[in-house]
Amino acid sequence: MAEVILKNITKSFAGHRALDELSMIVPDGSFVVLLGPTGAGKTTTLRMVSGLDNPDVGEIMIGGRSMRGLTPAQRNVAMVFQQYSLYPHLSVRQNLEFPLKSPLLKTPQRIIDEKVNTVAEILQISHKLDNKATALSGGEMQRVSIGRALVRNPQIYLMDEPLSSLDAKLRADLRIELKSIQAKSGATLLYVTHDQVEAMTMATHVGVLHEGRLAQFGSPREIYEQPVSVYAATRLGQPRINVLPAELFPGAPANAKSIGLRPEHIAQGDGQEATVTRVEHLGDQTRLHLSFKKHNLITVTEAHTALRSGEIVKIQPNKPLYFDAAGMRLV
Ligand SMILES: Nc1ncnc2c1ncn2[C@@H]1O[C@H](COP(=O)(O)OP(=O)(O)OP(=O)(O)O)[C@@H](O)[C@H]1O
Ligand SMILES: [Mg+2]
Repeated sequence: MAEVILKNITKSFAGHRALDELSMIVPDGSFVVLLGPTGAGKTTTLRMVSGLDNPDVGEIMIGGRSMRGLTPAQRNVAMVFQQYSLYPHLSVRQNLEFPLKSPLLKTPQRIIDEKVNTVAEILQISHKLDNKATALSGGEMQRVSIGRALVRNPQIYLMDEPLSSLDAKLRADLRIELKSIQAKSGATLLYVTHDQVEAMTMATHVGVLHEGRLAQFGSPREIYEQPVSVYAATRLGQPRINVLPAELFPGAPANAKSIGLRPEHIAQGDGQEATVTRVEHLGDQTRLHLSFKKHNLITVTEAHTALRSGEIVKIQPNKPLYFDAAGMRLV
């Protein structure tokens, strides 16, 4: 399929830099998840690649070609938006057929039917094919808009929180489907999500955006285990990494300002005392909320723990990450 290169992209809206000299390489056939808080520039990045909008400065290359001056259609990318944009007067089937009906493509109706039926089945909307697009729930509309991207054979898929309005079961099903479609077709996918499980399980690479810049790019595991900064560390992991003043624990390097402890990296049984403030049973595990020297911590423990709120546990860091005063990781 195709590699996407973003070279020094700057994009301002009313004097505010949504993207600030953003550079990133999306490898051919990769599944890249963009993470970042609201306003970090994720949607803007997708819009630049799609051609719906153009950078003020910088260049987008797809498959080694500069995209300067090319329309979205000429770029051969398929985008699934945050807001599903269906044709309201058309049925679900007609919405799904639409990208294949271009006179230029001359796709035989038999092939169109086949594709539409396959995609509808994957997305579990076969029973709604004759509905008007407006007669659907939010989650159904979202699936139709994913379907419209999937019936095509683009070089690049761009997806902006495509599973966000689906229930947990459907999200889990489609996570697996999307990942397998991508793996089978070898398509390059640039995907925005706030969902931790999606990021960890689907991504071959994660790009962490911070105020329009790339804070870190690497495998999900790399970002989880070797974050370059407090910022990157807090983007991945649910519950979030605990960040505390480094001096609370012995053994921190002299220039460490803070210590980062993933919930599973707090060992119990030995060390300093902490008070249990809340016990959350999640079924397969239990989360312990602790109060430790006036700071709140979250750790995980076995599902059937007998611990209760108010009890004292002893804790110590296991695999601590240290950060300097600027929040950058000390290695
Ligand atoms: N068309 C526009 N006009 C004005 N400002 C815009 C426009 N599009 C984006 N922005 C601004 O650019 C910045 C980045 O926006 P963007 O939509 O890329 O964020 P995002 O990371 O997708 O956030 P979210 O997670 O909320 O979707 C924000 O400050 C936003 O207000
Ligand atoms: Mg967005």
